[in-house]
Amino acid sequence: MLTGRAPLVSRWWRGQMQDDVGQTCDTPQACGLIKIGKDRAGAQIAPEETLRRVADERENAVVAQQARQDAARDITATDDQEFLHCAILPDSDISGEAMSFQVSIQPSRHSFQAEPDETILEAALRQGLSLPYGCRDGVCGSCRGKVLTGEFEHGKAQLEVLSDADRRAGFALFCCAQARSDLCIESREARSLADIPVRTLPARVHKLTRAAPDVMIVELKLPANERLRFLAGQYVDILLKEGRRRAFSLANAPHDDAVLQLHVRHVPGGQFTGHVFNTMKERDIVRLRGPQGSFFQREDSTKPMLLVAGGTGFAPIKAIVEHAIAEESQRPMHVYWGGRGRADLYLLELAQQWPLLHANIRFTPVLSDLPTEAQWDGRTGLVHHVALADHTDLSDYQAYVCGSPAMVAAARQDLLARCDLPADEFFADSFDFAADTLDAIDAPTHLNTRLDPHE
Ligand SMILES: Cc1cc2nc3c(=O)[nH]c(=O)nc-3n(C[C@H](O)[C@H](O)[C@H](O)COP(=O)(O)OP(=O)(O)OC[C@H]3O[C@@H](n4cnc5c(N)ncnc54)[C@H](O)[C@@H]3O)c2cc1C
Ligand code: FES
Repeated sequence: MLTGRAPLVSRWWRGQMQDDVGQTCDTPQACGLIKIGKDRAGAQIAPEETLRRVADERENAVVAQQARQDAARDITATDDQEFLHCAILPDSDISGEAMSFQVSIQPSRHSFQAEPDETILEAALRQGLSLPYGCRDGVCGSCRGKVLTGEFEHGKAQLEVLSDADRRAGFALFCCAQARSDLCIESREARSLADIPVRTLPARVHKLTRAAPDVMIVELKLPANERLRFLAGQYVDILLKEGRRRAFSLANAPHDDAVLQLHVRHVPGGQFTGHVFNTMKERDIVRLRGPQGSFFQREDSTKPMLLVAGGTGFAPIKAIVEHAIAEESQRPMHVYWGGRGRADLYLLELAQQWPLLHANIRFTPVLSDLPTEAQWDGRTGLVHHVALADHTDLSDYQAYVCGSPAMVAAARQDLLARCDLPADEFFADSFDFAADTLDAIDAPTHLNTRLDPHE
């Protein structure tokens, strides 16, 4: 297993401690706490004596931990001090006491505890912090961020998504990486998710519509007076027996929430999608948990948006576009939707209406198999190649990509490398199988065995 080692600034910092502060610290905790007090002269902090007392009570791990969190929370440093503020909290591996590690996030300065056997993303979500994520399986790159200080393991991050050069530069996939010391990480936080509760709800199958030979549109109704709050582009987990779950994106925009719409592609041999196509009936009851994920339109940007969907990856893109139309968003959007044959573009007429409804929206359908249909005069090829050919410079764009893991991975690589799309302006949901399925099949070869870019 590969190990990541970011610069150990915290140890360097403690090495400087006696000179800087002019006093002896008998424990890392005491040093850290005293330094916080000194650094923050004039700021709104607890008196240094209190900090010392707390440090002396280090046998009580809970109290000491609380003090560390309080002190970190109180920091009111200027920007150029921020890097050091990642370093002032003592490493748990040095104290030898703590079972978990402290992870602080830049630039938000939020912090949370991570157990050695959980991923950094799992730990953050467990404590209510919305780090970005999609597949939670190391293939979509949505959770990518940088480890500024501390030690960690990369886990099962795929090389296609996190190259050796990325690893050397300190990048990690937080859905795979596990802390091995206290960490300071750099990551966007999807702050607008903060107020939206994740709920488990029953839902009744309202309508089943076969939109294509292998695509079912499933409409779900929640109990009367219940509404699911979500952001356009997010997904829900359908809960199955024995704790298993299957992710499906919400295809309706949040304002249009009387019925929740899922676009379900039939996976041959698939347990849940097989049920949808063979035995599910209208009025059946399912249980869902959501909203989930960080694939949603970033409202704090005015950049033009490139939206690329493969197959049922159209579902969350539809939600985002319909939300933008409802909001009368002024952002230019160019939507590409790819399928193998005409039948795969199962809501083509709907999407073709978008440019008529909104002057800022362009829509380009793409077929990858040379169409036998005489009337097809549209674009052909792989959908992200067509998007790339039209947009050679994406340095001032945001890209939203959704579909099979292979398509998402290829799009990410090409948009960043060939069109100068900034890495933190790439958002994706990679339609991967559920964790229990991936555990059952050979996960490392999984990405390479699903090369159909239009699933
Ligand atoms: C964030 C997210 C959003 C998504 N949104 C959508 C969406 O909007 N629409 C959509 O269509 N899909 C979406 N997906 C993909 C969807 O979740 C999967 O296709 C779905 O989970 C498949 O479930 P299943 O129970 O039918 O298949 P599973 O039972 O999980 O099986 C999947 C495949 O694995 C094989 N398999 C299972 N167990 C084994 C085993 N032991 N050995 C060998 N092979 C095995 C099966 O034969 C089958 O081919 C999304 C995925 C993610 C992560
Ligand atoms: S969420 Fe980590 S790579 Fe997809």
